[in-house]
Amino acid sequence: MKLSERLMAIAHLIPPGTAVADVGTDHGYLPIYLVKNGISRKAIATEVREGPFERARANIKKAGLEEFIEVRLGWGLTPLKPGEAEVAVIAGIGGETIWKIIEKSPDIINSMSAVIVQPMKYQHKLRKALMDHGFNFIEERVVKSEDRFYEIIVVRKGDWVSYDEIDVLVGPVLKKKKTPEVLDYIKTRIERLIFRLKEVEGRNTSSAAKARESIMKEIELLREVYKNADLPDGNKYHRAASSEETGPAMG
Ligand SMILES: C[S@@+](CC[C@H](N)C(=O)[O-])C[C@H]1O[C@@H](n2cnc3c(N)ncnc32)[C@H](O)[C@@H]1O
Repeated sequence: MKLSERLMAIAHLIPPGTAVADVGTDHGYLPIYLVKNGISRKAIATEVREGPFERARANIKKAGLEEFIEVRLGWGLTPLKPGEAEVAVIAGIGGETIWKIIEKSPDIINSMSAVIVQPMKYQHKLRKALMDHGFNFIEERVVKSEDRFYEIIVVRKGDWVSYDEIDVLVGPVLKKKKTPEVLDYIKTRIERLIFRLKEVEGRNTSSAAKARESIMKEIELLREVYKNADLPDGNKYHRAASSEETGPAMG
């Protein structure tokens, strides 16, 4: 079993020796990897659908790890009791559903030392909800796997801190990380937005005007982060950013 780069990046954010809850485990690959490689001493995987639940159980049995990994059928974190796991992983699910899962189980979430989320969409909505509810952002990463970018966010319930639009859009930790991967991700986002802008251009409706305005605002904020990049080989990225003006549209 070879773990994807995305799941591998998540696995290596988990402090060794922790008990982990993997919400929406599907195949069960993450908990299997964690226990096999001595990262977790115990894991509880949850799954809302019967098919993946059975699949995870079969894979765990095949790996001979039934003693260390329990699979529970149920919604989100509701099959767990507070204190059963120290870290939760909620990955490969949309940002809105991830927030619903967090919101539904405050006692469990508040008892955890970290919650690792990897939203497939609505990343900004999830960030905003987390910020509005006093979650602190401990770490954020971008992973590119099979031509797709994934955001991985580590949070913990803490004191409320103020944030701005760039924090919501890019991430309070990520906005300070001007690594080639993060800049590549931001550049790709700008290109996609320019493509969307071209799509709504020429449409003379109030909803198109609203969409234009919001896309332009987002481009402006992303450019702000890109512009402030301070890389040793920054020229390459600055050049790429300035070619955005007339740059290629991305599908
Ligand atoms: C795309 S898979 C991701 C699997 C794995 N977490 C990963 O990142 O590779 C999403 C899985 O989450 C499960 N799921 C979605 N919503 C859920 C919820 N509220 N509670 C538990 N499982 C859920 C789905 O049934 C599906 O198996």
